[in-house]
Order: sequence, then C-alpha cells, then structure tokens
Amino acid sequence: MLKLLVCVSGGGTNLQAILDAIDAGRISGARVEYVISNNAGAYALQRARENGIEAICLSPRDFESREAFNDAFVEKVKALAPDLIVLAGFLVAVPQALVEAFPNRIINIHPSLIPSFCGVGYYGLRVHEAALARGVRVTGATVHFVDGGMDTGPIILQKAVEVRPEDTAKSLQRRVMEEAEWQILPRAIDLIANGRVSVEEGKVRIK
Ligand code: GAR
Repeated sequence: MLKLLVCVSGGGTNLQAILDAIDAGRISGARVEYVISNNAGAYALQRARENGIEAICLSPRDFESREAFNDAFVEKVKALAPDLIVLAGFLVAVPQALVEAFPNRIINIHPSLIPSFCGVGYYGLRVHEAALARGVRVTGATVHFVDGGMDTGPIILQKAVEVRPEDTAKSLQRRVMEEAEWQILPRAIDLIANGRVSVEEGKVRIK
C-alpha cells in the first residue's frame, strides 16, 4: 500500500478528487496518510480531518527565514516517510533538498498544458487569465514529476479542455478542474501505485 502525503494550499478540491477516487476504487494500492498545508486556514486541512487523515500546518510565516522553513519542511516530510508526495495545489516552491531526497517520488498537478503557461508566476487563476489573454482555443492540465525546476519535470499525463468564447478565468478554471485535473491526478496516482510508471532518459513510460 503506497503511503501518500498530499500537500495543499487552498480549497483542496484535488485532494477531494483523490479521496473520492480511492473510495470508488479508481485508485488502488494507495492511501492518503498525511496532508500538509502552508496555510492554516486552508479548507483542505478540514477535508483531511473530516476524513480521519493527519492534517499538518507548516507555514513560512512561523519561521525566521525561508531557509529555516525549508529545513523544517524537509525534516518533517522525511520523518513522515511517505512513498509518494502529491502537490495538489501547493503554492510553495518545493525545497531542492526535498527533490533530492525523493527523486521521481513527487508529483504535481498544473492547470495548463505544459509547456504553455507554466513556470515562475503561473499558478492558480493567473494561469487561466494568461490563457485567455493569449486567446488559446485549447488549454488543459498536466501531471508531472517534480525535478529541480519550476514545472519542468517529466510529464505523466495531460488532458485538453476547450476554451469557450464566453469563458472567464473563473469559469475556465472550474472546467479545467472538472474535466481534466480531477481525472488525471487520481489516474496518475493509480498508475504509479500499480507500478506502471517509469522514467527513462527524462521521459515517462507507462506500461
Ligand atoms: C488547482 O487548479 C491546481 O492545478 C493549481 O491550484 C489549484 C488548487 O485547487 N495549482 C497550481 O497552479 C500549481 N502551479 P484545489 O486546492 O481546489 O485543489
């Protein structure tokens, strides 16, 4: 049974999608053991508690420096010893030491088709604002492994979503979640939990 640590910053609808997929048997061989948030007010922490999952808050605000926060974060995660770390709307740059300690064992959901609208400054609603400003006809979501860069790691799954003429950033964000994120994130976890994902020469292979 793969022990999951899910890291969240906000509402936690992707966390909910993972929990629902486990309940429905769409994810087998994995369970959410811990949820960590950088934000004490994150609704995701409440979702975790309601589901009997250990919910932990580690906020950069409670530390003297970013370095001190990073050290505490890495130490905590190492102590929890998860098999897979899932960044599900975690809007904090993951410390390099964590990436080194968990190579190809950290995955992230990003609300665009990488390499479009990703990297520094592209998170949450901003991604959809940028997609609308560029006038793309198709956007979507990507699940990828986390490497040393920002949204640069090997891509596991992607799903496209059509942009409608009447879309606002909010309506597009919602549809990308419903039609793409809540499907491909649980699917990627199921594939990994069942030993079907490998990384070869920087690219993902799915058996
Ligand atoms: C999701 O849309 C996720 O893709 C995005 O934050 C939202 C979190 O929603 N992540 C990023 O932008 C990462 N760069 P949720 O808390 O309801 O799951």
